[in-house]
Amino acid sequence: MVKHTAQREFEGWKEFCSRPLQERLPLFSRDGRIYDVLFSQQFNRPFLDFLYGLTNRIRRIAKSREGMIWLHKLHAHQRAMLYFVQPSTRTFLSFLNACHILGFHTSEIRDPQTSSEIKGESPEDSIRTFSSYVDLIIMRHPQEGFAEKTAWLLNDFSDRPVPVINAGSGRDQHPTQALLDVYTLQRSFEEIGGIDGKVIAMVGDLNRGRTVRSLSYLMKNYNGVKILYAAPPAFQIGEDIREFLQSHGIHYEEHDSLESVLPEADAIYMTRIQDEHDVKGESQSEYEAFSLGKEHLARMKPHAIIMHPLPRRGEIDVMVDKDPRAVYWRQERNGMWTRTALLAVIFGTDEKIEAEGDLFLS
Ligand code: NCD
Repeated sequence: MVKHTAQREFEGWKEFCSRPLQERLPLFSRDGRIYDVLFSQQFNRPFLDFLYGLTNRIRRIAKSREGMIWLHKLHAHQRAMLYFVQPSTRTFLSFLNACHILGFHTSEIRDPQTSSEIKGESPEDSIRTFSSYVDLIIMRHPQEGFAEKTAWLLNDFSDRPVPVINAGSGRDQHPTQALLDVYTLQRSFEEIGGIDGKVIAMVGDLNRGRTVRSLSYLMKNYNGVKILYAAPPAFQIGEDIREFLQSHGIHYEEHDSLESVLPEADAIYMTRIQDEHDVKGESQSEYEAFSLGKEHLARMKPHAIIMHPLPRRGEIDVMVDKDPRAVYWRQERNGMWTRTALLAVIFGTDEKIEAEGDLFLS
């Protein structure tokens, strides 16, 4: 277990973070453009539609050698730092490769034991140090709210702010995972009217999993969506999400079995039981009942898709991978493309991609 150095008190932070989210968000945008990416609540429908259009365009440009080389030049003059002090495979690699597609030079810290935090430097000072060298910080951190604190600190306290992207903050949020999840939903439902009006089942550890929380917030951008939460009672979705859904008029139901959501769902979003958060082994008995096997496939709608943020353990049988409705490997790859598009939006390169990208479309 990595020991983290204590965070420091900064005058103004407590007051800032006690304000309602809507009042804090303007600090994280500049000239109408998203700057720090911290919460799913920052994304509205025009933003999502634009981002996904750009994602499609970048994917097409990247198909040719010439297109890839052109993309690679867009940020060849800039540097990004990946500060991932919590385990990660996909999010780390997809951000790293997204940076490389656009030409960013990258550096990384994945373990505070190898940085000056081991000498007692506070995580806030470490972040300020990164901002001395790079143009962008992408971070995954075990503490909820630390990405926001970092962004606030750089914007308000330092004279060299750089954008901060939250690549997973404790049990709280994983906004860029939600972006790729919704992109996957949109692509999968292209021929059947898009996401509006669809039924999305979220299954597993909904209380401690941050991906379902961020994804739930994004559902407010689509009309008539219904969410079915299937989880053991102890791992049901949090009260704050329920309040959010109610206040936005989003229909949801809570179920205590996987079986009961299968026939109605257009998408089944499986998640892992997050037993790293166990205090006394409370997850042990919950696996089996929330696992999807071959025997469940016939009970799903013919067009329903199976998603998972990954990593998986026992909750999806490997034999399900062969079913054409299993989209989780594609979902994983979508992460690289949506994150590439997101970087372009933060830095305003989307305008160049729109204006000049046609040259590379076959
Ligand atoms: C998720 C995470 O880290 O929250 N993984 C990911 O980023 N794709 C889900 C998980 O760890 O269960």
